[in-house]
Amino acid sequence: LPKVVGRVRDLRAAVAGYRAEGAKVALVPTMGALHEGHMTLAETAREIAQRTVVSIFVNPTQFAPHEDFSRYPRTLEADLTRLSEVGVDLVYAPTPTEMYPAGFASRIEVGGPSAGLETDFRPHFFGGVATVVGKLFIQCAPDFAMFGEKDYQQLKVVTRMSRDLDLGVEVVPVPTVREEDGLAMSSRNAYLDAEQRQIAPVIYTALSRAAEAIRGGAAPDAALATARGMIEALGLRVDYVAARNAETLAPLKEGAGEPVRLLAAAWLGETRLIDNIGV
Ligand code: PAJ
Repeated sequence: LPKVVGRVRDLRAAVAGYRAEGAKVALVPTMGALHEGHMTLAETAREIAQRTVVSIFVNPTQFAPHEDFSRYPRTLEADLTRLSEVGVDLVYAPTPTEMYPAGFASRIEVGGPSAGLETDFRPHFFGGVATVVGKLFIQCAPDFAMFGEKDYQQLKVVTRMSRDLDLGVEVVPVPTVREEDGLAMSSRNAYLDAEQRQIAPVIYTALSRAAEAIRGGAAPDAALATARGMIEALGLRVDYVAARNAETLAPLKEGAGEPVRLLAAAWLGETRLIDNIGV
């Protein structure tokens, strides 16, 4: 099994050792409950850096009080076994009090790509993500950090933050890993019952068709309305189905010829699913 540390000072000592070897270091931040998507991030990290650190921390500050923090899957033993197969060098699994010492009172706030989409429905979310990822970047000081396109807005927020605050970390995007039927892999898929699991790929199917229609000349608004209808027809409750500038996540400008990303979030029973796709 990979070496596990829970303290910032032990993380820093290990990374200092890697630096002394002349190694480049890649960090893969996760909340555990690892699946093939996380493994692809770790494998990509191994390809671009000599040393790979995976962090596992279910970050309380990115969950609202009514959200699934307490029932979020925690599978540390299985996670370590999976990581041993990829050959990561170190797992950093801090306790909540290591990450948030008594009296903790600081916060990183990111504007720009955090506006709208997830923020309209989870206003607490990116403040919590930016703060914990900022701390992870400062604690580990990696050369690279791997982020999945699955969480596209998060990827853009973290990229913006690293540049804006000169954290010196190159954020590396990794394409979304999917099940055979198109469903984006997610730790939250474990919440789905058998019937819901059959229905869940509709978000990807609907976004794919909308992307195809837009490529074929359809107006984005019409294609998105069709996609929303297709998702709702299967009983999901849609938070948003939207088209945005793929780089800034700003709303599209008429006839600007800009790169387009389609993004969606919807509830299937008690489970909130998100996905996105390029046009
Ligand atoms: P978590 O949901 O565990 O995801 C960790 C990383 O894995 C994120 O970069 C996410 O985009 C990526 N990922 C998840 N599913 C993926 C898939 N199917 N294909 C490709 N990549 C995938 O995202 C978080 O944790 C947290 O917000 C975190 C960044 C760790 C901060 O707490």
